[in-house]
Amino acid sequence: MKNILIITCSLSGCTDLIADEIGKVLSNAGHHVTIEISDDATQAQIEAHDFILLGTYTYSMNTENEAFIPFELEDFLDILYKAHPEEKYFGIFGSCDATYKFFGEAVNLLQADVEKYGGNVMAEVLKIELEPDTPADRTAIEAFTNQYLKYIQ
Ligand SMILES: Cc1cc2nc3c(=O)[nH]c(=O)nc-3n(C[C@H](O)[C@H](O)[C@H](O)COP(=O)(O)O)c2cc1C
Repeated sequence: MKNILIITCSLSGCTDLIADEIGKVLSNAGHHVTIEISDDATQAQIEAHDFILLGTYTYSMNTENEAFIPFELEDFLDILYKAHPEEKYFGIFGSCDATYKFFGEAVNLLQADVEKYGGNVMAEVLKIELEPDTPADRTAIEAFTNQYLKYIQ
């Protein structure tokens, strides 16, 4: 059994719903799961977890300006990057909207950022179109979560 922390950064709740579904898959596999909003995560909580899944929404100007990592994640990332990220194993996911030019770009940016600061990040990311409400979404969530479990074995 592993202790797994899921951090969410969500404005309208879709990323939270994906986190809940990932949490169910992990719990069913016998792991202990804590889901926390990025702003509420404490230093002690971050330091205590080697296995962390990070979820984010993506907003962009949808013009020539590229998307960005949501500013709400800044405080969390400041703490994380001082908490030996090189000893931790990450998976990144998020809710996205295919009508925008930069589909789920914050997921990719966050993956690159955590890697830049030395974190071990699973290559596969999970991007769900808005809410996780279709059988295909559930299949994708299960596949991503099982891939993460293999990654941290
Ligand atoms: C102003 C605005 C800009 C957005 N830009 C993007 C974007 O560039 N790429 C994308 O995939 N989704 C974009 N979205 C869609 C959100 O990522 C999507 O609604 C997502 O479900 C929000 O997640 P949340 O419910 O966890 O906050 C944008 C939404 C808004 C309102």
